[in-house]
Amino acid sequence: MRVLLALWVMVGALSSAEPPTFKRDIAPIFKAKCKKCHGLLVKQKGFSLRSLKAIRKGGESGAVIVPGKPELSILVQQLSLPAQNPKRMPPIVEKAQLTEAEKKLIAAWVKAGAK
Ligand code: HEC
Repeated sequence: MRVLLALWVMVGALSSAEPPTFKRDIAPIFKAKCKKCHGLLVKQKGFSLRSLKAIRKGGESGAVIVPGKPELSILVQQLSLPAQNPKRMPPIVEKAQLTEAEKKLIAAWVKAGAK
């Protein structure tokens, strides 16, 4: 619940800014920090981040994004899980972790419709 509240606050703080776009703002983050495990060949949990279409398709859990609703989007939730949770993305053992600013940007992108 605390994670959801934090997300809600983060998204609220960003809502007045221009909405982030996949191509300009989000794809470079996924490329740098997620693609080695969710790309063309390796698709952990059946999930690929290689295109907007693939992201919208989701993985074994089904849709991972609910456009407009970051608080219901698995993809957004998993970024803020505690370090010891195996579903935390990227896994805590990875050197390339997301910054707080990147997490906010991803949440704001989903909030704005994930386009
Ligand atoms: C080192 C490899 C690795 C990296 C890097 C990584 N992931 Fe994952 N990802 C996994 C594994 C393993 C799972 C399955 C975890 C589980 O459910 O036990 C997973 C599952 C997921 C799922 C759930 C898919 C489903 O259908 O349940 C999402 C969403 C996800 N990752 C997003 C991301 C995002 C976004 C990033 C980058 C910020 C990222 N991952 C980086 C390995 C990785």
